[in-house]
Amino acid sequence: MSVELRGVSRRGLLTAGVSGLAGVAVGAPITAAAESNTEPDLRAPFGTDVVPFHGAHQAGIDTPAQAFATFAAFDLLPEVDQGGLIRLMRLWTGNAERLTQGRPALADTDPELARQPARLTITVGVGPGFLAAAGLDDAPSWLRPLPEFGVDRLEETWSGGDLAVQVCSDDPVAISHAMRMLSKDARTFAEVRWVQRGFRHASGSTPAGATPRNLMGQLDGTSNGTPGTPEFDAQVWIRDGPDWLIGGTSLVLRRIRIELEEWDLVSRLGKEETIGRRLTDGAPLTGDDEHDEPDFDAVNDIGFTVIPDWSHIRRARPDDPGQRIFRRSYNYDEGPAPDGHARTGMVFASFQADVDAQFVPIQRRLDELDLLNTYTTPIGSAVFAVLPGCEPGGWLGEALLG
Ligand code: HEM
Repeated sequence: MSVELRGVSRRGLLTAGVSGLAGVAVGAPITAAAESNTEPDLRAPFGTDVVPFHGAHQAGIDTPAQAFATFAAFDLLPEVDQGGLIRLMRLWTGNAERLTQGRPALADTDPELARQPARLTITVGVGPGFLAAAGLDDAPSWLRPLPEFGVDRLEETWSGGDLAVQVCSDDPVAISHAMRMLSKDARTFAEVRWVQRGFRHASGSTPAGATPRNLMGQLDGTSNGTPGTPEFDAQVWIRDGPDWLIGGTSLVLRRIRIELEEWDLVSRLGKEETIGRRLTDGAPLTGDDEHDEPDFDAVNDIGFTVIPDWSHIRRARPDDPGQRIFRRSYNYDEGPAPDGHARTGMVFASFQADVDAQFVPIQRRLDELDLLNTYTTPIGSAVFAVLPGCEPGGWLGEALLG
């Protein structure tokens, strides 16, 4: 799923045909049309990169995180039944396949906007209301709102939803176009409930594979699992029932406000102890390099643990590896409020095979004790079952609705 074409223009591939593929020079313009001044420059560094759409799992989960993301949730209209859901999912699948591969959507009114997908991925998840509308009662037990946590200050405007899409790309123009096409498709079936936009470092501004920084200045994602490993597969992909979800996963989406004005008042040492890692390089307070294992037993001269017991990594790290989650979060920044105060935060997104067995125990521990809670406030929350992928000719949700 994460194999990508880099630097090979789509037009180059189409013109050369399959038999001529071996002869296509990477990035080389091979048609007269490509040299015409009316055509876009298809040698752009990453605009024409594509992520395969088909496969056992949907793309956008084990795909190296793109620079930008839009998450949108929809509420189904009351009259939509199983037949309507099938039509919607077929439409979305067809257009998601086209757009992610750099082709216009059906009846695309601005087809040129589809030419630079820049690793566009479209990932579809369903909420409890989707199964209810389909008249099905085969939902996993975790497909419901999360239990209430003491730290939560949830707002209805950022929570819940019958259906969700995660649209990611290295180019926000590709995301805007895809979202427009998907929401046009959905208009007769559903209303948009909320939209959350997020960003990471721009493509190329940091070395490939480097851990990104969040808006608190921390390296965020260091101890995440590595896609493609057996550990990641066990953490993320659903292997046992319900049948329609095998190869799928779950998405927990939390909108978490960051109280940057409070954070500004904290000393550098205080900030590092809040997480348990250094700000400069993300190394644990007991280590030298980012990927050194934290030593939670190490004590300082006066007998206190070097990584404080209330630090985020101490509290978040599960003792049981079966509880690990895969985080794929984005920053948000709504710009300063009229009084100049920051309106920033994190669109926290985690994927795990079982919300109750993995996410909930971690969030419970953080709820009980985590110094980071002083500077962060969850204001939105939603849980979705992310459908398995589909093969050519198939459609997302076929095993559920077909
Ligand atoms: C705005 C809110 C949050 C911020 C700024 C934040 C930041 C961080 C940072 C800087 C790290 C250390 C580097 C790393 O391993 O990624 C980390 C680790 C981690 N965070 Fe968060 N986090 C937030 C919310 C959450 C939430 C809501 C959860 C889950 C309920 C969570 C779970 C974890 C886990 C599991 C780790 C890895 C712990 C380990 O095994 O070392 N975080 N987080």
